[in-house]
Parts: sequence; structure tokens; C-alpha cells
Amino acid sequence: MNIRILNSREDLNATAATVIASLLLSKPQAMLGLATGSTPIGIYRHLADMYRKGQVSFAHAYSVNLDEYVGLAPEHPQSYRSFMNEHLFQHIDIPISHTRVPNGDALDLTAECAAHEQAILDHGPVDLQLLGIGHNGHIGFNEPGHSLTGATHVVDLKERTRSANARFFGDIDAVPRQAVTMGVGTILKAKQIMLVAFGAEKADIIRQALTGPVTTECPASLLQCHPDVLILLDQEAGGWFK
Ligand code: PGA
Repeated sequence: MNIRILNSREDLNATAATVIASLLLSKPQAMLGLATGSTPIGIYRHLADMYRKGQVSFAHAYSVNLDEYVGLAPEHPQSYRSFMNEHLFQHIDIPISHTRVPNGDALDLTAECAAHEQAILDHGPVDLQLLGIGHNGHIGFNEPGHSLTGATHVVDLKERTRSANARFFGDIDAVPRQAVTMGVGTILKAKQIMLVAFGAEKADIIRQALTGPVTTECPASLLQCHPDVLILLDQEAGGWFK
């Protein structure tokens, strides 16, 4: 794993955006694996800036998102489809038909999970998968447990995850109890993975994921098995790493 500690959050966002833009310069039709949450917001802002300045184009790119809440329609303000439109897609030139966020409101969620895998097969493999990390070590919504699922599937969210995300909903009771998520197998099929984390509250889980045992109790630790992982941390999240 290639671990880089950046001096500031701004540096972290700029570095991550540059990695994505460089990929698109060398492969305009690349498939990007995208993430939601607070971590990628600054990265997406940088990418939108780079697009406005003519430094990058997404016109031929494809994107596939990690996850979506079950029961939220795509137009719901807290859906991850809305998040992606608001923070990235509406600011760049990617054709919306080239973007895929799982539909958490699908009547047949099993078919929706299969369709997500098929979209990755059709336009993939994912060239670069962007990841954040949950406080409990989850990647996507792959929550810690005795076992993990390989392919895209429906998952029950842990209370820790629901309470961490309650800030977006105003009230924990409004946070969905399930999500559709790419499985760890799907994530590990990406050619390159870039995990980004900032803030002291992520330091412990990052240390466990990168230096602890590979275990389903810390899903991010499975990244140790991938041949091409870039970890970008700020000083607070990566200060333990010398
Ligand atoms: P965050 O979430 O970016 O809001 O910290 C990361 C995650 O849960 O994967």
C-alpha cells in the first residue's frame, strides 16, 4: 500500500482530485468508482473547479457508486443519487446516462443488485475506486461482522453507522435501516483503490485497517490484499504513521 500523509485537508483534496483527473487524461473513457459522505465533498469541489478551468473532462467517463439507502427514491434529498448530482454531476460534463447509483427504491432489490454488477461488467472494470472509511472500518456499507458478502447486496446498517449519518437527516429515526452496497469482492476488483480519510477521529480505525490483521471485523483491512491501493491521509488521521 502506498500511504501518503498530506499537510492539510486542502492538500488532501487537491491530491485526490489530481489522481482522478490524471487517470481521465490518460483514459478519457475510464470508469470511476465513486463514494458519498463528508470525505469526498472537497475532492468533488476540486474536480468541478478543474473542469471549469478546462483541466479535465468527464465527457467520455463512466461512474458507478458504492451504495444507496434502501427505501429512498433517487429524488429524495438525502439519497446518494441526490448527493452525487448536487456535489459533482451537475458541475461537470459527465452524461447522466453514464452514471450509476444503485436504486434503493427498486421493487426488486435482488434484481437491482444484479443490475449494478452488470453495469460494472458492461463498462468496467472500475479503473479507480474512491473510498472513505467508517468509524467502524466499513467500506461502502460493508459493515463489520463474522462474514462479508462479495457482490452487491442489501445490508442491515449498524446503529453506529446510522447515528453517524443522522447528522444528514436531522433525526436518527429518519435514517434508513438498510442499504444496497457493492460487496467487498466488487470493490477489490477495481484496478486501483484510493482511500481517503481526514480528522483525528479516523486515526484509530485507519491504523487498525492498515496495520492490524486482515479480518471481516474491519472490512477496510481487506484492502491489504489488493495490489494497488493509495491511502491519502491528513496529519490528524495519519500522524501515527512515521
Ligand atoms: P464520512 O463517511 O466520509 O462521512 O466520514 C465515510 C464512510 O462512512 O464511508
